[in-house]
Amino acid sequence: MFGRKKSKAWRNLECVYRRFRDTQMRDLFVADNMRGEKYSLHLDNMMVDYSKNRIDDNVMQALFGLARERGVEEKIKAMFSGEKINQTENRAVLHIALRHSGQMPIYVDGRDVMPQIHNVLDKMRDFSEAVRLGTFTGYTGKKLTNIVNIGIGGSDLGPFMAVEALKPYWARDIKCYFISNIDGTACAEVLNKLDPETTLFIVASKTFTTIETLTNAKTCRRWLVDALGEHAVSKHFVALSTNKAEVEKFGINPDNMFEFWDFVGGRYSMWSAIGLIIAIAVGYKNFAKMLEGAEAMDKHFATTDLEHNIPVILALIGIWYNNFYGIHRYAVIPYDQYLQYLPSYLQQLDMESNGKSVTLDNKLVNYATGPVLFGGAGTNVQHSFFQLLHQGTEIVPVDFIVPAISHNEIGNHQPILLSNILAQGEALMHGKTEEEAALELEKAGKSKAEIARLKKYKSFSGNRPSNIIVFKKIDPYALGMLVAMYEHKVFTQGIIWNINSFDQFGVELGKQMALNILPEIEGTAFGVEHDSSTSGLINYIKKLRK
Ligand code: F6P
Repeated sequence: MFGRKKSKAWRNLECVYRRFRDTQMRDLFVADNMRGEKYSLHLDNMMVDYSKNRIDDNVMQALFGLARERGVEEKIKAMFSGEKINQTENRAVLHIALRHSGQMPIYVDGRDVMPQIHNVLDKMRDFSEAVRLGTFTGYTGKKLTNIVNIGIGGSDLGPFMAVEALKPYWARDIKCYFISNIDGTACAEVLNKLDPETTLFIVASKTFTTIETLTNAKTCRRWLVDALGEHAVSKHFVALSTNKAEVEKFGINPDNMFEFWDFVGGRYSMWSAIGLIIAIAVGYKNFAKMLEGAEAMDKHFATTDLEHNIPVILALIGIWYNNFYGIHRYAVIPYDQYLQYLPSYLQQLDMESNGKSVTLDNKLVNYATGPVLFGGAGTNVQHSFFQLLHQGTEIVPVDFIVPAISHNEIGNHQPILLSNILAQGEALMHGKTEEEAALELEKAGKSKAEIARLKKYKSFSGNRPSNIIVFKKIDPYALGMLVAMYEHKVFTQGIIWNINSFDQFGVELGKQMALNILPEIEGTAFGVEHDSSTSGLINYIKKLRK
């Protein structure tokens, strides 16, 4: 596809699809007992098994052909060299520079960005260590043991997910909290637990104009000032932002600001100053390990041929389902309680990046772009939505993620968890025919009539795809690799779809309209024109709130 016309590689994939579409994975496994090994890749202590997908060599070759035709290799180079690939906002995209430890300069507008990145990382190291050691204290001299991140979207989801994922590394005497929602409950429930003397607020906002964050920050500031006075603010508030002027205007001393830059997208920012709460929670050394893991994935992505490139392969398989099988969704299921918020984080990463309908050449797309992503922690979700995954009419490809070793090896919990994840992948792929179901029922002593009645209900179509991603353990390095892998997968898909994965104009309209409605709800504006549904709802809500 691309533009209105189908490209050569796309037409080739359509032919391949027509021949291949009914192929059953269980037959492919029978035909080749090395399939598991053949379609698996390793990087450090990580293994990605993508063999349980509806692919064979022919399919993969055709997909690599598409990637080459779309210039994936060149676009990867362009990103790593600081080109302004975020063309609608005229910005470079350099989250990779945040974890670049080498000596090589990375230029934006002729200026090496590495020194400023390292300065901020040094400042984060010093500050996080001072908070952890208690040498940077609150206004009354008490150690800051309650750290509150106030932010939303990319200024919340990444740090929140990572702090939770790395719980085993937390300093025991420090507690982290996150306030994101504008719902007053979010603020109230956190503040109720805290003592102002021991609380540090981190106001995280790239733009420092986001209404939720600024409103929450103002409420927290008032709470602090009421208790300790205006002078206490500089010891209890820091800001993470690209917008110094707004930070000052808000009343936070620019010395207490940790800077980042326009070349870091919100949803790609947990490696930047936005990661400050991660560094405080788990220590800067562990934060740096997370950067190292991400850098290992960056190197792999930038230097490995497409045929062995993990993010590229995952991206292409996603394209295969999305654009040829017409499957516009996938699930991410971490079998690790500490990774329970990974799906929410990835929802923003993937859906805000690739939920686009206009190409880089300013045309409406005539093909599907970003899929719907959902998920949750296994095994819990086996008992909620897995019924649909196994027997529903919707096909949902799954990414299963699991560590071989748990941080909490209690009894045989981990072997049970591991056997569950592997069984799910196998069951989705293999399914169960009616004959197999009938045989099982017969063995269980069921009558012929019962077998005839039940065998359809008890059968599974199978041929349902999944990737299984195994780590030795979810440590900071592994987490860095995992998140960077998804970042690059999403980027690769954006290249193939010829869209800009780095802007997010789609969230603007609702924000603008909310600003119009606010004065009506507050009773300072009347009679603004809306559709009859919205007007009716405004009036009803106002009546209820009187
Ligand atoms: O939801 C839109 C968005 O702009 C996200 O891209 C961003 O992560 C979030 O709002 C928060 O923005 P900021 O960090 O500027 O407050």
